This record gives sequence, structure tokens and C-alpha cells, in this order.
Amino acid sequence: MSKDSKAAQKRIDQFFSGPGARADDWRDLVESAKVWARGGHRAGYDAALAGLSVTEEFHGYPGLQLMAALREAASSGDAAASLSLATRITQALATRSFRQHAGDWNERDDGNGDAPELVPPTFAGHKGRRPYFETLIVTGVSSSQWPALAAEWRKLRRPEDGFIYEPVIVGSLEDAFCATMLNPNLGAVVINEGFGLRSRHDAPVLRSMTAMANLKDESDASALRLAQIIKRIRPELDLYMISNRDVEELAGNPEANVVRRIFYSVEELLELHLSILEGIQDRYDTPFFDNLKKYAQRPIGTFHALPIARGKSIFKSDWIRDMGEFYGPNLFLAESSATTGGLDSMLEPTGNIKKAQEKAARALGADRVFFVTNGTSTSNKMAVQALLAPGDIAIVDRNCHKSHHYGMVLAGAQPLYVEAFPMTEYSMYGAVPLATIKQALLGAKADGRLDRVKMLDLTNCTFDGHIYNTRRVMEECLAIKPDLIFLWDEAWFGFARFSPFLRRRTGLGAANEIESWMHDPKSVAAYEKQQAELGKNPSDEVLLKTRLIPDPRQIRLRVYQTNSTHKSMSAIRQGSMLSVKDVEFHTVEQQFKEAVFTHASTSPNQQLIASLDISRRQMELEGYGLVANAIEIALAIRQAVNNNPLISKYFRILGADAMVPAQYRQSGFTDFLADGVNWANTLKSLD
Ligand SMILES: Cc1ncc(COP(=O)(O)O)c(C=O)c1O
Repeated sequence: MSKDSKAAQKRIDQFFSGPGARADDWRDLVESAKVWARGGHRAGYDAALAGLSVTEEFHGYPGLQLMAALREAASSGDAAASLSLATRITQALATRSFRQHAGDWNERDDGNGDAPELVPPTFAGHKGRRPYFETLIVTGVSSSQWPALAAEWRKLRRPEDGFIYEPVIVGSLEDAFCATMLNPNLGAVVINEGFGLRSRHDAPVLRSMTAMANLKDESDASALRLAQIIKRIRPELDLYMISNRDVEELAGNPEANVVRRIFYSVEELLELHLSILEGIQDRYDTPFFDNLKKYAQRPIGTFHALPIARGKSIFKSDWIRDMGEFYGPNLFLAESSATTGGLDSMLEPTGNIKKAQEKAARALGADRVFFVTNGTSTSNKMAVQALLAPGDIAIVDRNCHKSHHYGMVLAGAQPLYVEAFPMTEYSMYGAVPLATIKQALLGAKADGRLDRVKMLDLTNCTFDGHIYNTRRVMEECLAIKPDLIFLWDEAWFGFARFSPFLRRRTGLGAANEIESWMHDPKSVAAYEKQQAELGKNPSDEVLLKTRLIPDPRQIRLRVYQTNSTHKSMSAIRQGSMLSVKDVEFHTVEQQFKEAVFTHASTSPNQQLIASLDISRRQMELEGYGLVANAIEIALAIRQAVNNNPLISKYFRILGADAMVPAQYRQSGFTDFLADGVNWANTLKSLD
């Protein structure tokens, strides 16, 4: 990488270079400290420290105190102290030991000999770790008072707290935005009124983003506005507001719905601290898994099938004992053939499975979620069977997964196959062009069959990585048929919910955007304006060429999404979720019951259900960072492969320009790594 491009990466608006770029920055600091300590120039160290200080403001560790100590060591010309502290911080960040090891927060090594933990905790048998997160505090208080403010927050910590957190303090809307984007450890945000709009740092692309959001002057830096912005980026975060105005009035404002709790400024800080912990606890609780653990610990006799329950047939056997040794006793203690009572039933959940499903719905932005223990193959069959009746027509990508074809057979429905664009050069298929889908709908209308077309069923993303502009597809189809049902097979794409870039391209992400659009009074005006322009009976040719706007008053939003939770989250193989956002769900609820009864086993695997519950917990608490990291790695691999003289002879990573023919790529976007591509224009290309 050239020096210039590396310098460019350090700008705070380079949101695609997150954790990896941060680690590089710290390694660079240590290397330049070594040069200085060996008697070389110190200019490199000073430059590295200055560059890094900007982004470090958005993180809890090393924090204000250690960053001040680093600057102090540099200004007093102490190369050895600079090297020692930079090295310790870099190690603590790399091993994440600062989350548990208090000594990492001291300016000087406390010399207690604790080695940083280099192996995952379960392997070393650690117990009783308190999960660590960071809380963003947005405040109008002057930055000279931030260290004292941080100290106040730390004083609230109590030994009985289930979690431990560090405050991260910022003083403007733009900085709050940057911290939300750059700091994956954030679990909660506290917004005090009275902060400013502009970042203290230079970030031209960031400014262009805030301009797009119509944030022009200081009056836009309102707490409610910020809350709305943060919720759009990271819906999983708990937001708290501290106001000294009329709290009741604020709480009654529908825009404040995104805020978990509003505090009056004179209220006890301890109340806020407890609320923050309670919010994290709510995401941490896994109703089914927690109950399964309790079940495993109880002395329970079994009088029915399932010889392996409690490990009886395993540990007493000379011949299969190694299975018990391999998997450990908990697997068998947590096995049960009970499908009712404490462990709840997958067929008719009323207890902890129901609660776990409700939490999954919250995490995925759905109205409801069904846990499925036989893969997305089954989720798809369930959705198709429940939503279609004999004779109904579904527009289906011919390249869809086989489960859709089998679903159609079960439902007695008639597939109207549409073709994805071919990529003959690479032996791949792309996605189905929107014009093809619209043509299928308009054709059915011309034949008088539009009322029979019930569903559009597409794969998003495809095996090769093509994703649809889900919002545009749904909007244009709803303009032709306002009650069309959408089934998005997102077997590979479940993680996308946890990225602000990709969420809008998921079925549910787009459905939520369409729903807010429907409630915006400007939408009806936009629809009517287009109708006036189109005139009476526009030709199919015009309709195919126009980006159609649906009538927000007519839309019946009916969106289904299936995810192989085992493919992109931490579920055990075959764990899948079927998510629903359907205003007409009550009309198909009974069919869904039948679909569950048709497909679900009466002996579901308890560990699999637990892993679905746990996957939800993980994604709500660290999904944002995990997905950001994966995107960053994907881009780094792309760059490394394409730039390596030897590897690039044999392999090439295709950009958007090769994956999507120009006629389907109206944004003109070519590749993430192309010159001039940044956060703002990438985001625009996704709309
Ligand atoms: C697009 C698509 N849908 C559904 C499935 C089936 O998912 P599962 O393997 O979870 O049954 C797959 C499997 O690869 C798939 O690629």
C-alpha cells in the first residue's frame, strides 16, 4: 500500500477500515517508537501518535488517561517510556486483555505478573468473567471536564453488577456518529442535551453525509435527531436521553420511541447506570438456553425414550464411552424427549421458545420469527406451503434453491419461472432483472391473471453474492400489485441485518424502510405526481422504463425472509429462522400452524434450538463488530489478491462492474476499491 493511501485510511470517515486499520495504526506507533528509542528520528512517532489520537477518542480503551500519558511521555522526550506504554497498550488491544485485566488501565505496568490471555477463555478454564462493553456519552460539557466525568461514571461500578462498562465521551453530533460507526464495543448511548453539531476533526466525506441528512446548522444537533440517526445505524443499541426540559412532553413525542428511557437531569446517575445494565441484560438473556442449563443441572429421572438422556447409555458402556468423553457430559444432561412443560414445544410454543422467538424478531426487525430445526430448506417449504393455495401463481427465480420447487409442489401452486441474467464467462447466473419481474406482472395483468399472482420469490443474496435492491424491487412490484407477498430466501445473508450498509438490502430491512415511507405525508404527493406524469393507461413500455412509485394508501406490506442461522451466525447445523412482517398475517396464521405441524419434528434437537437463541444474543451484542470485521477482511483479501504479482496471475476478484452488467448497474458503482470510492458514494449506490 502506498504511503499516501495509508494516510488516507486514517481519516475518520473511512468506515470500511475499522478494527484492522486500528490494529495497523498501533503497530505503526510501536515500530516508530522503536526507531526513536534506538536513537533515530522522533518525527515518525509524533506523526503516528497524532494520527491515531483522532480515532482513539471514539474508544473506551486506552481512554483519555492513557492517551494523555502517551502524549506526556512524548512531550517530555522520553522515548523509552513512550515505547513501553505504546507496546503495552498495543498488546492489551490485540489480546483484548483490557476487558478483564485492571493493570492494563494503569500508566505504569503494575508488575503483578499477570500475563495477557492469549487463549480463548473456555480453553483456559476461566470462570466468572464479566462481559465488557462501552457506553457512549454525548454531552455539551467542555472537553477539559471529560476526565472528571469519566471518573464519576466509573464510581458507579459495583461488585454485584453483571457487566462492566467504560464511558466514551464525545461532544458533537458528528463525533457521536463516528463513534457509533467505528466502535463495535458500544452497548448503550446516553444523550445529554446541549451538544454541538460539528466534529472537532476534519472529515469531508462525513460532512457530505451530514449534508445529505439535511443537518445544516447547530439547531439540527438535537438529542432526538441524534437518537434517530444512531438507531438507523445500529438498531440494537439502547439509547437513553437526559433532558432538563419537560420530560413528559418529550416522552409523548413519537420520535422519542427509539429511546429506551428518558431521564430528568436531576435524577440519580445510579438509576441510569442500573438501566444501562438492565438493557444489556435483556439482550444477554437467552430464555430457552438459560432454562436448558437449569434443566441440565436438576436431578431428573427419565422413564421414556432417549437412552442417551443424562448420558446413561453412554457413560455405562465400554463401547461408546468415548462419545461421552468427546462431547462432555452437558450435552447428555441437556437432552430430553420432553416437548411440553419447562422446555416448551416447538409445535405450539407458549413458554421459553416463544420468548426466544420474540427476542429473535426484535433482533431481526420482524413482527415474528419461527425457529426451524431442519434448515432453510424447511423454512422455505413452510413459507411457500402456508402462503400459497392450489392454483395460485408465484413468480420464482428459476435458479432458486430446490426447496422452493418442492414447496410449490406441496402447495399445488403454479410457479411462473423468471430467468436470472447469465454470466457465461464465469459459468454463473446473476440475479433476475427487475424489468423481467415487472414484465411478468404486467403480462399476467394483460392476461387477466394478476389476481392469481400471489408471490414473488427470490434468492437474496445468491450463492455467488448477488444482492437485490430489495426496496426498489418491492416498491415497483407493489405499484403494479399492492398486496403482493415477497419471500426473500436469505439463507446466506442473515448477517446483513447487522451492517448499516447491507441492512437496507435485506427483505426485512427494506420492508421497514417502506413502512416508514408509507407513513410520510410526502409519499402520497410523490405517488400522485408520478400518476399525473404517467397519465391514464400508460403503456407497458413506459411502465417498464419508469421507476414506479406505489400508492402508499393501497400497499398491504407482506414480507417473509428466511435465514440459515447456521450459515452466517453461531447456530448449530440446520438452525434456521423464518421471519415475518405481514399486515395480513392473521389471515394465514392457521396455515402457518399447519406448516409447522407438517414439517417440524416432534423430537426437535434441544441443542439446536438453544443455539438459535444464543445466535440471537451474540448478534444483538456483538454482531455489528463481527460483520464490520468480516467486510474489512473481505476487502483486504480482495486488495491483496488483486495486487499480488504472483497470485493475481491465477486469481482475480471480480468487482461490481464484472458481477453486474452495466445496464443493471445504474448507480455506475464499479468496485469498493476503485479510486474515489468512499462511504458516502457507496451508500448512495445502494439506494
Ligand atoms: C439459496 C438457498 N436457500 C436455501 C438453502 C437451504 O438451506 P439449509 O441448508 O439451511 O437447509 C440453501 C442451501 O445452500 C441455499 O443456498
